[in-house]
Amino acid sequence: MVSRVIPVDPFDLVIFGGTGDLARRKILPALYRRFRDGQMPDEARIIGAARADLDAGGYRTEIRAAFDEFLHEDERDDRMEAFLERLDYLPIDAMGDGGWPDLKEKMRDGAIQAFYFSVGPSLFGALAERLHSHGIARDDARIVVEKPFGRDLASAKELNATLAEHFDETQIYRIDHYLGKETVQNLMAVRFGNVLFEPLWNAQYVDHVQITVAEEVSVEGRGAYYDKSGAMRDMVQNHLMQLLCLTAMEPPSKFDPDAVRDEKLKVIRALDPVDPGDIVRGQYDGALGASYLDHAEDPASRTESYIAMKLHISNWRWKGTPFYLRTGKRLKARKSEIVVTFKETPHSIFDADAGSRANVLSIRLQPDEGMDLRVTIKEPGPGGMRLVDVPLDMTFAEALGPDAAHVPDAYERLIMDVIRGNQTLFMRGDEVEAAWAWTDPIIDGWQSRGDRPVTYDAGSSGPEEALMLLHRDGRRWRELS
Ligand code: BG6
Repeated sequence: MVSRVIPVDPFDLVIFGGTGDLARRKILPALYRRFRDGQMPDEARIIGAARADLDAGGYRTEIRAAFDEFLHEDERDDRMEAFLERLDYLPIDAMGDGGWPDLKEKMRDGAIQAFYFSVGPSLFGALAERLHSHGIARDDARIVVEKPFGRDLASAKELNATLAEHFDETQIYRIDHYLGKETVQNLMAVRFGNVLFEPLWNAQYVDHVQITVAEEVSVEGRGAYYDKSGAMRDMVQNHLMQLLCLTAMEPPSKFDPDAVRDEKLKVIRALDPVDPGDIVRGQYDGALGASYLDHAEDPASRTESYIAMKLHISNWRWKGTPFYLRTGKRLKARKSEIVVTFKETPHSIFDADAGSRANVLSIRLQPDEGMDLRVTIKEPGPGGMRLVDVPLDMTFAEALGPDAAHVPDAYERLIMDVIRGNQTLFMRGDEVEAAWAWTDPIIDGWQSRGDRPVTYDAGSSGPEEALMLLHRDGRRWRELS
C-alpha cells in the first residue's frame, strides 16, 4: 500500500550553507528522493548558496560526491544526474553584499520562494536582512531554520525578534526533525483517529509514560559543539519535549498548524518545575579510552551525554501520572520509543496465581517503526485459567506491505511541507520559548550547585542512578535491546 504522490507546485529553494554538512547529508538527499518519487515538478529549482567560489558545475560535482557517500547504492540510478542538473549555485557573502544582486536575478516570479538557513544562528539576522534590503524575498516567501534555536530563553527570544523584523510568523519554519518522523505523526493518527485510546488516555487509566531516545553513537567528531550543549539542550529541550507534547496534548479541534501548536504549548506551560532529585545526568566512560572526556573539547567537562528525568504535568488529564524521559549517547542500542503503561484492572476475577498484567502500548520510532499493544489472554491449553501477555503487533513494514518498508526520512516530509506551506510539523516561536523557559532553571541549578554528571559505562543501558529513579517508584525502564 503506497500513498499517492502529489507533485508540489514549482518552487525556487535557496539553501544558504549549501555546501555544508546538513545540506550534503540530509537536505539534498531528501530532495533527491522526492524528485525520484515524482513529487518535484519539472520547474522546481534548487540553488545552493555559500562562501565557496564555485559555479553550478563545481557544485554539482560536490553534491555528486556527497550522494556517493550518503545515498544507498540502489538510489544512485540514472535519475541522479537528472536531479543534479537542477542544481544551481551562487557564491554569496552573508555578511556583505557580494552575490545578492545575482540571487535576485535568479528568482522567478511565479515560483514559490523558500530560503533554507542551513547556517549557524549568528547568520540568521544578516541573511534575513539582506533578503529584504536586496528586494529578494516576497511577502509570501518562506524561511526554514534549524536547531539549535537559541541556547536559553534570552537567546531564543533574541532570534525570534531578529527574524520577526523581516518575516511574519506564518513565513518561519523552525525545524525539529523529530516531528517529521513517520511514527511521530502516527502517534497523532493513533490517538485521534481511533475511538479506542482517547477515553483511556489520562491519569485515571495510565500508570506512567516512558519516552526514550537512546543512541549508540558517541559525540566523537562533534565534541566542540556538543560540549557546549549537552543532552539537555541538544535533545531534551527540543526532540523529547516535542514527543512529550504530542503524547500528552489535548485533541486539537482540527489538524491545522495553530490548533496543534496551541495544544502543544499548553502542555509545556503545564509542566511542573523538576525536582533536582528527579533528574540523573550522566557522562559515558569507557575502559578502553572511548570516554566522553576523550571526545569533549574540555577534558574536565561537566557536560552531560545522558539525561533521565521524571516529569509531572499539572492539568486535569495528567495530574498524578509521571512521565519518565531518558536520552543518551553511547548506549547499548539505538532505540527510540514512547511507551504508555496502563493501570491494572481495578479488580481481578482470576486466582491470584493466574497473574495479572497491565496493558502496554509501545510506539517505536526507530528502528523497526511500528506499534504494539500488549494484551492479556488465557494461556492456551487445558491447564486451568492462566493468563499470559501477548503483543498485538503492528510493524508498519509488515502491516502495510513492502513499500512501507521504505520509511521516508524526516527531511523529505518536512521540506515538502515547507513548499506546500503547511506549518503543522514546525515549531512556533512561543513554543520554543516556553520550552527554554522550562529548561533554563534546570540548567541554571546544575551550574549554581556545581553539579557533576555521574558516569556510565559506554555501551551500557545508562547510569545505575537512572535505574533507581524508576525503582524507587516501583517501576522499571524498558530494556534497551
Ligand atoms: C540531532 C542531535 O538533533 O538529533 C544529535 O543534534 C542526535 O545529537 C540526532 O544524534 C538524533 O537524530 P536521529 O534522527 O538520528 O534520532
